[in-house]
Amino acid sequence: MPDSYYVTTPIYYVTDAPHIGHAYTTVTADAVARWHRMAGEDVRFLTGTDEHGLKVQRSAEEHGVTPQEWAERTSRRYEEAWELLDISNDDFIRTTEPRHHTAVTKILEACRANGDIELRRYEGLYCVSCEGYYTESELVEGNCPIHHRPVEHMEEENYFFLLSRYEDRLLEWYETHPEFVRPRSRRNEALGFIRGGLQDFSISRTSITWGVPIPWDPSHVTYVWFDALTNYLTGAGYGSDDEEFAHWWPAVHLLGKDILRFHCVYWPAMLMSAGIEPPRNAYVHGFLLVGGEKMSKTTLNQIAPADLVADFGVDGFRYHFLRNQPFGPDGDFSYEGMVARYNADLANNLGNLLSRVSTVVARKCGGVGPAPDPGSELGVLTAEVFDRAANAWADVQPSAALEATWSLIGAANAMLEKAEPWKMEPGPEVDRVLGDALEVLRIVGLLAAPAIPSSAAEIWRRIGLGSDPSAAGLEAAGWGGYPGGLEVEKGKPLFPRIGGRGNRS
Ligand code: MSP
Repeated sequence: MPDSYYVTTPIYYVTDAPHIGHAYTTVTADAVARWHRMAGEDVRFLTGTDEHGLKVQRSAEEHGVTPQEWAERTSRRYEEAWELLDISNDDFIRTTEPRHHTAVTKILEACRANGDIELRRYEGLYCVSCEGYYTESELVEGNCPIHHRPVEHMEEENYFFLLSRYEDRLLEWYETHPEFVRPRSRRNEALGFIRGGLQDFSISRTSITWGVPIPWDPSHVTYVWFDALTNYLTGAGYGSDDEEFAHWWPAVHLLGKDILRFHCVYWPAMLMSAGIEPPRNAYVHGFLLVGGEKMSKTTLNQIAPADLVADFGVDGFRYHFLRNQPFGPDGDFSYEGMVARYNADLANNLGNLLSRVSTVVARKCGGVGPAPDPGSELGVLTAEVFDRAANAWADVQPSAALEATWSLIGAANAMLEKAEPWKMEPGPEVDRVLGDALEVLRIVGLLAAPAIPSSAAEIWRRIGLGSDPSAAGLEAAGWGGYPGGLEVEKGKPLFPRIGGRGNRS
């Protein structure tokens, strides 16, 4: 039985349209899922939309439609964006689905049975954008520290989850599971929250109607974060299929730093309370900034994935964010930076290797690709690169994995420049050089497939391999697999160079 690997993205609020920040998390999760599938693991990849809460209720009102209609419309936009970006999710969860209501009801009952839910009167300062309360001292100039918008005074009777009871258990979990939150800097951040003392948090609202009713008191609906986090259980079969759930759980979560506290503190405690194992990992990334600022509707600096896909292609888009934004710290996005990286890595480095090799194979080998040298130095390098890439993918560091992969492309180009097979007479020496270069292309097709799946498949097709690298899997990544004797096609540039804005030449 292969290992199971259940990977998730956060579920996106239907108040916003998909932008490159959302795409960043989703493309990363997709590439990681693809790598694990290629490693022969049994993978389940879940994404979806977060459709309840006051923010959605208000957005719907502003647009004169029902919350259900509003949710429907925006959720569809996420599904379309992910289709466009070649996202291979196995399921798409919407929190308005009946299966999710069942799961939320089940976890609430379990936490209540464990004595961790209590009714209290609550008064506080509420940020509608965060769907969360703040204390006076947490505000920045009287505004929400994240959204820089005024908070609202709220007073209501709420059910509370007794998070304060979980301080010691959480610390112990962190102690015994040092890999739980990655990268390490984010783990320290989460530990800081816990050590700073945990407050019980409210898990229901009476002021809104758009949500899952509290099963034993339907005048309350479940607070959006309690509801939202539970999507990860729903998507694995919790409440509908125990066997499925046991197979997939615990999950590997990918998320942005703004929702670290919910995922790394609230969520494991909720699960412990319900008698469920905490997640296997939470991989926390930084923000993608535009002109040094977080994208937001108010500053109108959001970039839609489709706009960049029009200029760079789907794989150009995917490659850029995976390679250019290391997973963990914040990073700045610029169009010029994207053009430069595309031209250097895709058009020049990878694109040139493919076009050079196919041109010289046509001229010197009658269009038939020779086999590699089993003792080639590039074979030794390939083994090293494979290990570096595998470790990086396993630790959700796509940028390091791709850097390693591209170092192999660089080495093959350097080898060709040194040997200059285009100046040689046809014969065994030319065959050896080109066989090695073709073998690098075959292996790069495998290693890069999680990031650029259709281009990787196209590379394999052009060098005469009849299958798709994603389906062949990583077993095929050892040196010497290119059989030789295959027809190599001289095609159009795989990644046409980009000149000025949107000008693919
Ligand atoms: N609905 C909640 C998540 C619930 S998960 C149980 C939510 N949604 S969100 O749509 O606001 O954000 C979803 C994810 O997108 C978060 O991980 C967030 O960090 C990420 N990003 C939103 N803007 C981003 C950038 N500018 N850069 C990188 N990621 C960003 O929070």
